[in-house]
Amino acid sequence: MSVPIIRSVGELRATVADWRREGAKIAVVPTMGALHEGHLSLVRAALEQAGRVIVTLFVNPKQFNSAADLAAYPRTEEADAAKLAPLGAHLLYAPNIGEMYPDGFATTVTVSGVSEGLCGAYRPGHFEGVATVVAKLFLQTAADLAFFGEKDFQQLHVVRRMARDLDIPISVIGCPTVREPDGLALSSRNVRLSPAERQVAPKLASVLFDAAARIAGGAPVDETLAKARSEIVSAGYAQVEYLELRGDEDLSRMSRLDRPARLLAAAWLGETRLIDNIKVPVG
Ligand code: PAF
Repeated sequence: MSVPIIRSVGELRATVADWRREGAKIAVVPTMGALHEGHLSLVRAALEQAGRVIVTLFVNPKQFNSAADLAAYPRTEEADAAKLAPLGAHLLYAPNIGEMYPDGFATTVTVSGVSEGLCGAYRPGHFEGVATVVAKLFLQTAADLAFFGEKDFQQLHVVRRMARDLDIPISVIGCPTVREPDGLALSSRNVRLSPAERQVAPKLASVLFDAAARIAGGAPVDETLAKARSEIVSAGYAQVEYLELRGDEDLSRMSRLDRPARLLAAAWLGETRLIDNIKVPVG
């Protein structure tokens, strides 16, 4: 069995209208392709909660702040479709660039607050690109539910805020990060790691898990984060962009563990930028 591929908004809307007439609940799983087990776990979660599941595949140029990063992004549509078919996804919506951003396109969705700091500080324009394309995908698919990975935790908050603020009637559901057996969070960027870098990569997660446990156990936040930063660099990472404790519910800054929290990090391993985050329970 193969998954039908649709490339135009018109055809997508017609299919969704048929599903609506059948009374089906519709879910969307937005992706940029290069599907891995993390994406597939979102599709499985969507299939559990909705009668029809649309996976979108669009490598969104507006969210890349480096032309080299955009050019290097893996494009594997055929393999992606082959991974989706056995799961039972109902549709792959893969518009081309002209369909998504026709000539004269001039609108940008900006979400303040939760987009600021963390990745927002290092990737100017990134979350505007994400919010703009995800708003379009929500409106184009008119889905009831949308599934996102917690690995991009700030993105999850940005998308939730955007949908709430624009009154888009969709429930945004965050799903747990899927990890390799050695702890490395799955990411489409992991394929760029050299064998030597791949050996070092899981150290980011292990340092985060360790620091989260120490903070949960009462260790002082600032000292613990400073030690964790130096452990990440000693392991072989070139640079830690950020390592911060933020509120789990609203991404507000925290210097004491007085509410449920997330430890979030971005670090460079050679030419590859990896991000990860871990929940820090309180009490
Ligand atoms: O997480 C991603 O792959 C992208 O940021 C998304 C949500 C598909 C928007 O392009």
